Formats: sequence, C-alpha cells, structure tokens
Amino acid sequence: MVTRPGRPRLRALASTSETDKKDKSVAAKVLVLSGPNLDRLGRREPEIYGRTTLAEIHQRLAEQASRRSASVDCRQSNHEGVLIDWIGQAGDDGFDAILINPGAYTHTSYALHDAIKGCGLPTVELHLSNPDAREEFRRHSCVAPACLGRIAGFGAGSYGLALTAVLDHLVRTRLR
Ligand code: DQA
Repeated sequence: MVTRPGRPRLRALASTSETDKKDKSVAAKVLVLSGPNLDRLGRREPEIYGRTTLAEIHQRLAEQASRRSASVDCRQSNHEGVLIDWIGQAGDDGFDAILINPGAYTHTSYALHDAIKGCGLPTVELHLSNPDAREEFRRHSCVAPACLGRIAGFGAGSYGLALTAVLDHLVRTRLR
C-alpha cells in the first residue's frame, strides 16, 4: 500500500478544527463601544481609518458573534460621560465583556480608565490604526492599565480580532 504522509495529518487537523468550533461556542453578551468621531468612519481620514463604516463593522460583529452563540450590543457616542454611564451599567445589564475603541479619549481620559477598572468586566482596548506608530500624543493610553489587552493596527479587522480574543478569553476562564 502506498502511504501518503500528508493525508492523515490533514484529516486530523480538519477534525480538530471541527472540535474547536464546537468548543469555542460561548453564550456571552459583549458590549462594543466606540468613542468620539468613530461615527464618521468611512468618510473620516480614509487613508488612516479605511472606508468601512461603523454600521458595516457592527453588522460583521453581529454575524461573527452569532457563529459562536454569542451576541453583541454595539454603541457609539461622542460624549465621555455617556461612555462612562454605559460601562458602569454593563454588569447590571448582563454583559460578560466589553470591547472599546475610546478614540481620542484613549489618550486623555482617566475617568474612562476608572470606569473600566470599576466595572470588573474583561475589557479589550482596540484601535483601527496603530497609535504607537503615529503622533507622540497617541503613544500614551490612559485606559490600557485597566484592560485585559489591546488590538490595534488592523483597520476594521481590529474589531473582529478583539471579539475573537475576548470570546476565547471567556471560554478559557469558564473552563477553569
Ligand atoms: C483611534 C486612534 C486614536 O488615536 C484616534 O484619536 C481615534 C481613532 C483608532 O481607532 O485608530 O479617534 O482610536
């Protein structure tokens, strides 16, 4: 019999990824927040932020979440206090995790830092651009110390990567 070393390995990988898909289902509610000026995505400095609108990003996130039995509630505000109120309420509203693109509040808002820290939910900071590769003032994040981690620099894809990261985190912590 001729053995084909590549084939069994491929089959093994395929079945592993089937198992992964099942194992990666997680009944979780994720609050997705975008801060100032992100309502203008698609038209705002497209050479930096791309042409995808926030509505398109929200649609993709909803589809991605439902493939893993999760759900997202996506909101945007230009107002710091509104973002803080939403974060403060998130636990009581039954959310399991938060994704936040704080826009320019990233670099100025210790109030957002405190809200994230105080809410006790795993929170991922995300950015379309890579702030570390831009102007000096963008290199400091006030919210980073309160967050689980950060995804930046992948354009609209940063939102989807952040969702994957936080859902994987919830799977891991619930298995413990
Ligand atoms: C941003 C980066 C911030 O520095 C900037 O103020 C934004 C968008 C991003 O997604 O790349 O508004 O958060």
